[in-house]
Amino acid sequence: MMEDLSSHIMDIVMNSVTAGAKHIAITIAKDPQTAIMSLSVSDDGRGMDAEMAQKVQDPFFSTKTGRKVGLGIPLLKGTAETTGGSFALTSEKGAGTSITATFDSRHPDLPPLGNIRDTFFVLIVSHPEIDFDLRYAVDGKDFLLDTAEWRRELDGVPLNHPEVIGFLSNYLDEHL
Ligand SMILES: Nc1ncnc2c1ncn2[C@@H]1O[C@H](COP(=O)(O)OP(=O)(O)O)[C@@H](O)[C@H]1O
Ligand SMILES: [Mg+2]
Repeated sequence: MMEDLSSHIMDIVMNSVTAGAKHIAITIAKDPQTAIMSLSVSDDGRGMDAEMAQKVQDPFFSTKTGRKVGLGIPLLKGTAETTGGSFALTSEKGAGTSITATFDSRHPDLPPLGNIRDTFFVLIVSHPEIDFDLRYAVDGKDFLLDTAEWRRELDGVPLNHPEVIGFLSNYLDEHL
């Protein structure tokens, strides 16, 4: 199991980046009634065919084939399932991929969330050309950030311009 959910998020989102996504939506939300935590990542990257989408969920796939495929997806699936949650991956070749994992936030083995603020910050500034549509709605907080909107406002100034980085950093500190 990974040490925190932020590490899982980073791994899953890096798959989207590697798949050439231009738009990535990340939602982390906790239902106050049911205490179910859900994480979803959707991208418009190159996607996978049905066979591949099935195989990448299998932790033994990499060793069986000798292909260099990691464990990011099986690890997230394992964390979700061992904490009383669910895991779903849908993908379409040439169109994109969506992953949704749920967790019971009261389960004793659920890893902590980790540093969501830093996770969002690093993703945005290291991939300024990608549209990140971010939502964090947990424990009374409801944070939304759509970097496509920021890009329009910035009118040609990149999201990783030093002054924008400073502004973004303060914005995340204030709102997350
Ligand atoms: N969002 C995605 N879009 C397209 N392919 C993906 C995506 N996520 C995962 N994959 C495919 O599944 C494989 C396994 O992903 P993962 O379990 O995270 O291990 P790793 O990233 O180390 O290969 C990736 O190598 C990639 O081929
Ligand atoms: Mg990965």
